[in-house]
Amino acid sequence: MIFRQLFDSTSGTYTYLLASRRGGEALIIDPVLEKVDRYIQLVNELDLRLVKAVDTHLHADHITGLGALRDRTHCITVMGERSKVDVVSMRLSEGDKLTIEGVALEVLYTPGHTDDSYSFRLSDRIFTGDTLLIRGTGRTDFQNGDARAQYDSIFNKLLRLPDDTLVFPAHDYKGETVSTIGEEKRYNPRLQVKSIDEYVELMNNLNLPNPKMMDVAVPANMHVGLAQERIEQQGWAVRACDAVTLRGRADVAFVDLRERGEREKHGVIPGSLHAPYPDLKENVEPGGMLHELARATGKRILFYCAFGERSAMAVEAAHQAGIENACHITGGLAAWKKAEGPVAH
Ligand SMILES: [Fe+2]
Repeated sequence: MIFRQLFDSTSGTYTYLLASRRGGEALIIDPVLEKVDRYIQLVNELDLRLVKAVDTHLHADHITGLGALRDRTHCITVMGERSKVDVVSMRLSEGDKLTIEGVALEVLYTPGHTDDSYSFRLSDRIFTGDTLLIRGTGRTDFQNGDARAQYDSIFNKLLRLPDDTLVFPAHDYKGETVSTIGEEKRYNPRLQVKSIDEYVELMNNLNLPNPKMMDVAVPANMHVGLAQERIEQQGWAVRACDAVTLRGRADVAFVDLRERGEREKHGVIPGSLHAPYPDLKENVEPGGMLHELARATGKRILFYCAFGERSAMAVEAAHQAGIENACHITGGLAAWKKAEGPVAH
């Protein structure tokens, strides 16, 4: 496995790059905007293809690199379903799997630092965001933080993992890089409490100053959605309510870009084809399944995904590859459901 821990010294943020092999798909966790050039350089140097950029929670101390990475690499952006961020390409919840080729991380909902904090676990390690830090825990005094919820996340989820599980947090300010669950159980001063009330008391009396970047970072991080004006201006966007009336028409092919797990969990538009986003390039190029379908039948290709981001990127790629009648459903399956379009499970 390829595993890199990258550091932003301005915000004390750790960013993690994972891939199963050289030449394969890569995933990045908690990227920082100012470091995006470096990440892309490293991805290229290691001969990787970045396919997912994930934030463990909405950060208050730095601007996320999610949007910039998506715009520059066409990777998809991922956050937890509880996040108040405007639009990401994919949302996950407890028990879901965050996957790339050869790597599957288990998703744990670990609120407390914020109400949208998630942890991601591989067999031998866990990325704890700001829920559990090395010899510390993430503050709980803003962004709907809740010391009681954090106690529950830490004691009833994270500390129940095997003692030798490696802990990789989103931040460190003292130069520590990694710990283990067993070590934190024993030596993390915040965890040496006898009750949840004692923990809450401790967390509610930290009296920390607000992060310097907070007033800039939080609003910026709330808006990472893809700019879609150009797609609309070109007439490549179909509103969900209009898409509902196109269903069943012989001259329109609905194409679902989501992953199998998303389809099973959230359902599909009946009669739609499945062409997962990671295979998009080969599908839209001459000789590819969608290219030939459009050419041979003259059908309009109508892409959809979860929230309209992957499909917006697919429309651009399809037009570049010469599929002139490609369009997408704005807002994806979420908008389709709001428009009361039928969904099959
Ligand atoms: Fe944080």
